[in-house]
Formats: sequence, structure tokens, C-alpha cells
Amino acid sequence: MSTAYVKCCRLHKWPLFVFSLVSLTGILQAVHSATILQRGYSLKDGDILDSPAGTFHLGFFTSGNSSNRYVGIWERVFSLQTVVWVANRDYPILPELDASLSIAGDGNLALVDSCHRLLWSSNTTLVSPNSTAMLSDYGDLILNNSGATVWESFDHPSDTYLAGMKISLDLITNSNKILTSWKKLDDPSMGNFSLGVTPAAQIILWENGRPRWRSGQWNGQAFIGIPDMVSAASYGFKLSVFIKDGKIYYYTDFNSSHRWVLSSIGTFTHLMYFESTDTWLNLWEAPATECDKYNRCGNYGICSDGAVPFCSCLKGFVPKSSLEWNSGNWSGGCVRRTRVLCESNGMTPDGDVGDVQDRFHLMQGVKLPDFFGRASQVVNVRDCGQFCLKNCSCKAFSFVDAFGCMIWESNLVDINVFRSGGNDLNVRLAASEFTQDDAVTGQKKTMAVYVIVGIVLAGLLSVGCIALIFCKYRRRKVADGNSLIYPGSSRKQVVEAVSPVKEMQGEDKEDKSHEIPHISFRTILAATSYFAGANLLGKGGFGPVYKGTLSGGQEIAVKKLSTGSGQGMEEFKNEVILIAKLQHRNLVRLLGFCTENEDQILVYEYMPNKSLDSFIFESSKKVLLDWEKRLNIIEGIARGLLYLHRDSRLRIIHRDLKASNILLDEDMNPKISDFGLARIFSSDNNETSTRRVVGTYGYMSPEYAMQGIFSVKSDVYSFGVLLLEIISGKKNNTYRHTGLNLSLLAYAWKLWNEENVMGFVDPTISDSCSLDEVSRCINVGLLCVQDRTSDRPSMSSVIVMLESGVSAHTEPMKPTFAFDAVSSDTQSHSYDGRAGLIHEFITILTGR
Ligand SMILES: *[C@@H]1O[C@H](CO)[C@@H](O)[C@H](O)[C@H]1NC(C)=O
Ligand SMILES: *[C@@H]1O[C@H](CO)[C@@H](O)[C@H](O)[C@H]1NC(C)=O
Ligand SMILES: *[C@@H]1O[C@H](CO)[C@@H](O)[C@H](O)[C@H]1NC(C)=O
Ligand SMILES: *[C@@H]1O[C@H](CO)[C@@H](O)[C@H](O)[C@H]1NC(C)=O
Ligand SMILES: *[C@@H]1O[C@H](CO)[C@@H](O)[C@H](O)[C@H]1NC(C)=O
Repeated sequence: MSTAYVKCCRLHKWPLFVFSLVSLTGILQAVHSATILQRGYSLKDGDILDSPAGTFHLGFFTSGNSSNRYVGIWERVFSLQTVVWVANRDYPILPELDASLSIAGDGNLALVDSCHRLLWSSNTTLVSPNSTAMLSDYGDLILNNSGATVWESFDHPSDTYLAGMKISLDLITNSNKILTSWKKLDDPSMGNFSLGVTPAAQIILWENGRPRWRSGQWNGQAFIGIPDMVSAASYGFKLSVFIKDGKIYYYTDFNSSHRWVLSSIGTFTHLMYFESTDTWLNLWEAPATECDKYNRCGNYGICSDGAVPFCSCLKGFVPKSSLEWNSGNWSGGCVRRTRVLCESNGMTPDGDVGDVQDRFHLMQGVKLPDFFGRASQVVNVRDCGQFCLKNCSCKAFSFVDAFGCMIWESNLVDINVFRSGGNDLNVRLAASEFTQDDAVTGQKKTMAVYVIVGIVLAGLLSVGCIALIFCKYRRRKVADGNSLIYPGSSRKQVVEAVSPVKEMQGEDKEDKSHEIPHISFRTILAATSYFAGANLLGKGGFGPVYKGTLSGGQEIAVKKLSTGSGQGMEEFKNEVILIAKLQHRNLVRLLGFCTENEDQILVYEYMPNKSLDSFIFESSKKVLLDWEKRLNIIEGIARGLLYLHRDSRLRIIHRDLKASNILLDEDMNPKISDFGLARIFSSDNNETSTRRVVGTYGYMSPEYAMQGIFSVKSDVYSFGVLLLEIISGKKNNTYRHTGLNLSLLAYAWKLWNEENVMGFVDPTISDSCSLDEVSRCINVGLLCVQDRTSDRPSMSSVIVMLESGVSAHTEPMKPTFAFDAVSSDTQSHSYDGRAGLIHEFITILTGR
């Protein structure tokens, strides 16, 4: 104790209170690990206070290289990145000293070091000393006094906003600071950046008190200044507002999978937790570009990230100082070239001045300027324009459904032209600014009329065609009475036949919970180092796959779909949302998607063990998969496929099941990949690409390869081939048994009939396997690859046969289609038109 006092004397330079007001009740007991902190107990260095479900923890930690200790709350597993709240940000516990957190004599939470100095306190006025503290499962440290919550950490956030926090804003002072950044990545003391909310529900990020970025207003769905935030609902984020006691409150629903962090370098980042991979995904961050920065191009300047230079002046405006502007200092902004009418004659025009009347220049797709007012009585865009025109102080207007008529009376500040999204802004200009352009506009209008007539005619024609095809198809469907798809029919019909569209839509409305995040293109570019060749994992039938690493360290697989899925962005998004709902432990998990210009990108969880073919066909790695693991893989694939065929609501036919589409997780559990992509590539309207047949030699069922007909039984066939490959360790499409000139399937059938199953089994597993199980598997495999679809079992029967332990009593028939395609090419192939496929197919047959 005496040495501590000596140290205290030397270190006593903080303006801290010596902790004397508190008389602690006797000697405090340590709690080690608990969910409630009561009077008489204290949390010492090393002790942890857990939330009831264990999602959050409160304890002591060291930040970075300094040995200073802090008390904070972290989420799930400790790392500096998961710390969401720090108590003693500016008063660390010095390395030489100890400290403890306890309920002080007055009932407040207090962090006191071994020199009796108060490092941090909840510092609230209490009537009774009878307090307890606990940590909620949403990360809120709550101080309860005689049954009421008197203090909570949610009201005093550090650098992290957690879903469920309420932000209150005093309507009179009109400013608040909710988050303050850390000084450095590893230094929790107060940094230069802070973040708050304005009464118009806009988030503002300040750097040393000056605006650095703003989100734009909340329109009920998203912040209008964040174009990447396609629909906030898909991020599980909803900002609600209520007013109470002269304060306006913003809050979000509790949701422990989301947090927003103000980083030490001044970016605001939205992170989402994925349970399946136990990682945090960075959904967006701002400011991310030059133009995201507040008023980058000055007043009346417009910032456009695609342009060189990115700053320009609004139409009718010129740089305030061309010298500064041309040297790249845009902060001075722009000024009006021609004074507007009411400014020049000092009066308000009454509306019928004719040609000289001021006019509005329309800018589309912009981040609306800061500081708007509302003309609440105006209900449409035309009246909004009239309203603005009549008042000389109105410099611009915009009509946005969520806000009504918005008008700007001060300088136009912080205008950013988005690449997609954004709103319309109408800027007031003198009539003379328009005269040069009018002739051109006139011509354009005439052109537009022709174009519109053309579009309408084309539309009528296609409606007719669709109606014809539809009737034809209906007849055929009735005649055949099953869901097989015929080569002549378009893919649109395929989709309808495979999945009952109406029923699906009905279900979707109810269930928005599985919505999938849109990940910004910038994030993807950064994660894959601009699709660097070194990150290429492979090329599948639908496009290349890249490995990526997000800024949080999470590894992802990025699939860039080959151009021409032929879908519009909206359709693509809808498909992705449907596919994302397919969740099963034997399916690869889709984490997000991205659309940018022509690119359509899917982001999957990354599977470190790569695909099954890299194991079963590689002599060096074969040994890693013993019989037990292989059986587990076979059963897993069967379950995943059954889910796709029957249990999922979409009834997906995979159409390209093969060893390279089976990925293995760290425990060698199989996960089917590329499912549902046939859907994305099938529901387009373009005739030439709708005839694409997707599949891989050796796995294609006879009816699919020859006639283009597919059904769930085509997948069963591919499964059968895959199963036999897993057992034999040999590829179907390259295998030719020495001397016998038989395909793998024919060879399996031959040995099966000779009752020599062990002759078929991969020698590396012949020791570890059981004859019973192997025979059962080969039997099932041979049943699956029978020629006639009706002879093949469904996936549910397959699973029953595989798992029941009862042998399948059915004898398989000889697979006559078991041609030996001697091709080393295991890539999927697509063909424009079935004729092409048959041609190639015949070439293979005759070429042997
Ligand atoms: C506690 O709050 C009061 C008033 O808000 C303030 O004056 C005082 O400095 C605070 N004490 C500590 C230890 O922060
Ligand atoms: C403290 O408050 C709790 C209710 O929150 C009550 O049950 C308990 O009796 C109180 N204890 C004292 C000593 O006042
Ligand atoms: C914070 O701002 C001050 C003053 O502008 C500056 O000197 C300091 O370098 C800034 N710190 C960081 C970490 O950016
Ligand atoms: C840019 O121009 C403004 C005035 O418009 C001036 O105050 C500022 O110092 C200039 N900045 C630089 C870096 O020259
Ligand atoms: C124009 O707007 C200003 C500011 O809102 C207001 O004070 C003034 O009364 C308005 N003038 C007219 C004619 O509506």
C-alpha cells in the first residue's frame, strides 16, 4: 500500500477527484464472472460481467502497445474491433496501479484505482444507495436503483452505435453529439471526429466541430444521401422518431447483429454479424469518396466522382475565383453568372412576366443540398415550383414524396451527383441562361416522341407474342401433365413450371427477415484487390470466383456472374433475395450481392478447403477422406439436394451438380454451391440466351444431354455419378478402365453384377470401409443413373436408402447411356441453342 501511495504522489497530475465521498461498505468481494453487479461486490481486473445470453461482456482490457488499462464492453469475442463502449476513455488505469468497478456508497457505478482516485463514475443523482448494475444482451450497461433504471451506457455511447440505442436531441439547442471516435486505432481517448443527428433526421459527422459528411435525411426507408443504402430494411435497420418532454428521440429496434462505428480515421461504418461464419461484414462506410466529403466543391459547386476534375459549377454559375478554382482549391465555390430577375429589379415577380420570368434548371440523381425548408401546404411538384418562383429568396426546390415540397433559401451547399439513386433538384436561374439551349431541347423533344411511339408499338407486339406462347404452352402442359420442360419452350416457362410463382410471392410479403444485404462495389473492389488475378479461385459455369478479404478480416468468395444473365437489376435482386432464403447446412451461404452498371456479383462465405474434386481425384489428398468422411459427404450432398428439391419453397433444380461444385468446410462437411444460378440465368426474355443448356459432361442425364429436358431426376442422375466418383475416386468423364474400355458407370454396373463391389472401391479407403455400407451406396448410385427418369429414385428415397441401414431391395438396370466421353474438360458448358449441344454430343459419341 505504501508503494502505491508513493507512486500516486508522483502521478497525481489529473484533475481527478480523490475518491473520498464514498465510504465503501467493508471489504468488497470479487465477482470473477457474473451477470449482476451488486453492492458489496466489485469487478476487479480479470473479472468479467456477462450479459445473460453471453453476447456482450464487460471487463478490463489493454489497448494496443501502451500498458494502460480500460474498462469496456465488447461483443462476443474480445478484440479491439469488438469493443463497443469504454468507461474511462480519457483516464486510463496506469500500468502500475490496480482498479475496481463497484457500486459506490451513493449508489453510482464507480471505477476507482488503488490510489483512491475516481477514474470514472456514472455520476447521476440518486435518492437511495440501493443499486445494481447489469449488462443487457444488446450491450447496454444498466444501473438500476430501487427498481428503476437511473443510468444506462446507451445514453453515453463511445464510438459505436448499437441497434436499440435512443438518441435524444434537444429541440432548442439543436445539436447533439452521440459518438466520438477513438484517437487512434488502439487509443480509446477522445478523437477528432464526432457524430450526431439533426432535427431533420440527418446524421452528421464532424471533424473538430466542422462538418465532414452528412447522410441526408431519413425518408422512412433509407438516408437519401447514401446511394449504397438501397433499402435500409434489407439491413434490418429502421429509424423511428418520437417527441417527448421537448426532446426528439431517434431509435432503432434492438438487433444484436448490427453496429455502426465511427472509426479513428473519421469514417462511419455499418457492420453486420453473420452467425454462420461468426464474422462481421462491412456493409458500407462513409465518407468513401472525395464527393462524399461535406461541401467538397464549395457553395453552388457540384461534385461528381466520375468526372475529371470532380468539381464543377452548377449550370449558370462560375467559379468565385478562377485562379483558386483552376489550381484545385474548390473551397471558394461558385457564384451566379446572371442575376435572377427578382434580384436585379428588387421586386417579386407576380408570375405573368412572360419570357423574362426566372426558370428552373433540373438536375437529376443528386444528393440534395443541406439546409432545406418545407412548404408544407404544397402538395405537388408543379405547385412547389410555383411556390418557389414567387419568393425571391427561394433558390431551388425539390419535391420528394417523403418530405413534400422542399425549398432552399440559403446557399446551396454540398451537392453530390450520384452514379445511381439520388433525387431531382431544380435550381433557379435567370431566363437568359436557357436561350442558347432551347433549340436543341426542341429537337430532342421531337425525337422523344418518335422513341416513345416506337417503344409503345414494340411493347404491344411483345405482349401479343407472349400471349401466343403462353396459350401454346398451357396446352402442352395440360397434355403432358408433368413438370418436365421441353426444349422448345422458353426459360420463362421453365421457371413457372418449376416454381409456383404466385405462392412464392405471397410468402415473400410476410417474411422479410432473410433479406440479403447489398454490398457496395467499392467494398468488393477493395476486398478482391480489384479482382486481381492472384485472387482468382476458379471459373465456374456462371463466371469467375475470386477470393476476397473484407476490411474486418473476413474472407469471402466473390462470384462475378458472366455478363448477360440478361436480367434487369430489379429482377436480379429479386432472384438473389429468393436464393438467399435457401438456407441449409449443406448449402453454401450467400452473404450479399452487388450490382454496379453491368456487373452482377454474388458474395458467398469462403470455404478454406476448396472443392471436393481437389480431394477425391488427387492422389496426395485422397487419403484425407476416409470412408466415414466420404459417407458423411455423400449423405450431406443428398440432404442438401433434397432441401433444394423438396423442402425449400422454391424447388430448385441444380442442373450442374458435380464434384467441383461441392465445397468442403473446415470439418469436411459438404456444401453445395452454385445452386439457384440456373434460375438467375433462366428468367430472361432474350431468346438467344434463353436456350442455354447448362451442365457438365459426365454428369448430364441422357434426357437432358440429348433432348434438353430436365427435372429433379436429372439432378438425381448427377448425384448418382457423383456418388460413384466419391466411392471409386475416379472421374466419370475421363475414366476408362484399362483394357475394358468401359465408362465408370458401366464399370460399376459390371462389378456390381459380378458381386465384386470391393473391386470398385478407391484402394485408399478399402481398409476403412464397411462392405455393407459400400454395397448399399453403390446400389443407390446405380439406381440413380438409370436411363429412364421414372426408374430413378427421388432424393427422399435416396436418403431413406442411405440412412436406414436397410439395403435397397431394388436391382438397378444397366445404364446404357454410360458412354465414355474422353474429355479432360470438367468445365460446365453452355450452348446457344440445343442444336449446338446435340452436335457436340454426337461428336463425342462418334469420336470414341
Ligand atoms: C458529475 O456531474 C456534474 C454535473 O453534471 C459535474 O459538474 C461533475 O464534474 C461530474 N463529476 C465527475 C466526476 O465527472
Ligand atoms: C433494494 O431494492 C430492491 C428492489 O429493487 C428491494 O427488493 C430491496 O429490499 C432493497 N434493499 C434495501 C436495503 O433497500
Ligand atoms: C486532431 O486535430 C488536431 C487539430 O486539428 C490535429 O493537430 C491532430 O493531428 C488531429 N489528430 C488526429 C489523430 O488526426
Ligand atoms: C483556398 O481558398 C480559400 C478561399 O476561397 C482560402 O481561404 C484557402 O486558404 C485556400 N486554400 C489553399 C490550400 O490554398
Ligand atoms: C419569402 O420567404 C421568406 C423566408 O421564408 C419569408 O419571410 C417571406 O415572407 C416570403 N415572401 C413571400 C412573398 O412569401
